[in-house]
Amino acid sequence: MSTSSDLADRLQSYLGPAGVITDWRDLESYAVDWRKLFPGKPACVVRPNSTEQVAQVVRICREAGVPIVPQGGNTGLAGGAVPDASGTQVVLSLNRMAAIRNVDPIGMTIEAEAGCILKVAQDAASTAGRLLPISLAAEGSATIGGVVAANAGGVNVLRYGMTRNLVLGLEVVLPDGTIANGLRRLRKDNAGYDWKQLFIGSEGTLGVVTAAVLRLLPRPKHSVTALLSVPDPDAALTLFGLAQDDLGDQITAFELISRTSLDLVARHAGLKPPIAEGEWFVLIEAASSLAGLREAAEAMLGSAFEREIALDGVIAESGAQAAQLWALREHVTESEAREGKSVKHDVSVPLTAVPLFLVDVGKALADEVPGTRVNAFGHLGDGNIHYNVLIEDGHDAGAVNRIVHDVVASHGGSISAEHGIGQYRVGELVRYRSSVEMELARKLKLALDPQGLLNPGKVLSP
Ligand code: MLT
Ligand code: ZN
Repeated sequence: MSTSSDLADRLQSYLGPAGVITDWRDLESYAVDWRKLFPGKPACVVRPNSTEQVAQVVRICREAGVPIVPQGGNTGLAGGAVPDASGTQVVLSLNRMAAIRNVDPIGMTIEAEAGCILKVAQDAASTAGRLLPISLAAEGSATIGGVVAANAGGVNVLRYGMTRNLVLGLEVVLPDGTIANGLRRLRKDNAGYDWKQLFIGSEGTLGVVTAAVLRLLPRPKHSVTALLSVPDPDAALTLFGLAQDDLGDQITAFELISRTSLDLVARHAGLKPPIAEGEWFVLIEAASSLAGLREAAEAMLGSAFEREIALDGVIAESGAQAAQLWALREHVTESEAREGKSVKHDVSVPLTAVPLFLVDVGKALADEVPGTRVNAFGHLGDGNIHYNVLIEDGHDAGAVNRIVHDVVASHGGSISAEHGIGQYRVGELVRYRSSVEMELARKLKLALDPQGLLNPGKVLSP
């Protein structure tokens, strides 16, 4: 292996001075995730500005036997896009490849490069009268490449599916430096293996996503947003059933928020909910191109109050008020980070198991690690709860993790619904997935990346 300064010189002579960062002061933001939980130390950061440059960087690093960590907006929550602390890994940032190559409002597609910020792509779709329905708190920094590589979820999965459901075409640089161009805009394409699926959600361990074609949807003309307090998660689930009956496929979001989450947001973001009382809250949004949505939503909520499934509630009267209700939800993660240490979970269980899961895990934690506080919130409509546990010095984070994941497993759930494995859950994946599934994953990795140079230590142990 060449020394890292030899390699940086080689990369610099190929990419030019703007393409390589070696000064530690400029490297720092690429070295650690935004929550500063996974600090690393890159050999250098490279910033290619074309697919061909990405491919050449991958070839140069491969020849030198140097590992690469692809990075987008670095907003992930599992440490999947940051290097380890060895000082030997090259961070490959896609942030100079940020173009929107095409928006087709009739064909309902958008083609964007990996470094394009999600919000920029959403706005381009919106300007064309269409909707790019991937919506996350980090959308102002997250990039298309990162969103695809992580198969990001967010608050609209209930109606539009995960990112995977929206990817029509993909361009990927493979670990040997060849370019696989599958940037097709086809709705139907059943010709052979659908290889792009391998890269969506593979967290940069099988290839570097350089561009994607995403499906657009009609932009609904009407929307209704409501925040309700509910007696308990069981009632929230009954409300979900009622909303399915009465509003059907117009529901775009159905979020569960605990009192603890709202207290954190009040303390750290200064945002107060318009409903004073209650331990559990539901944020519902419905959207439609047809008129009559608000009346249907009001009728549904009226019957929820009558049946005492909902106790109190507010329906937003304007877009600004809807944004205020959403701000309460969107500030939970940041407020939790300001509160102190937490053990984060991103679990899913079958929808109907959510209330019992919450009871079981609450009991197990209280018995085995007393004194912790639970910040539970998330995408109830997807069975995906962020069961984050606030801990103090002396609490065993590993034990908390194990308790939560064991209860998840006992309900037939998953240890990551949307954030991915990254480096954070590598050990957990082996524990909760069967040996057959792990062996299959290792065979795929070995087939595509026999030298193990692409994002080593993420998803699978090296
Ligand atoms: C969210 O839904 O806000 C994030 O995915 C959750 C988290 O911070 O755990
Ligand atoms: Zn989430």
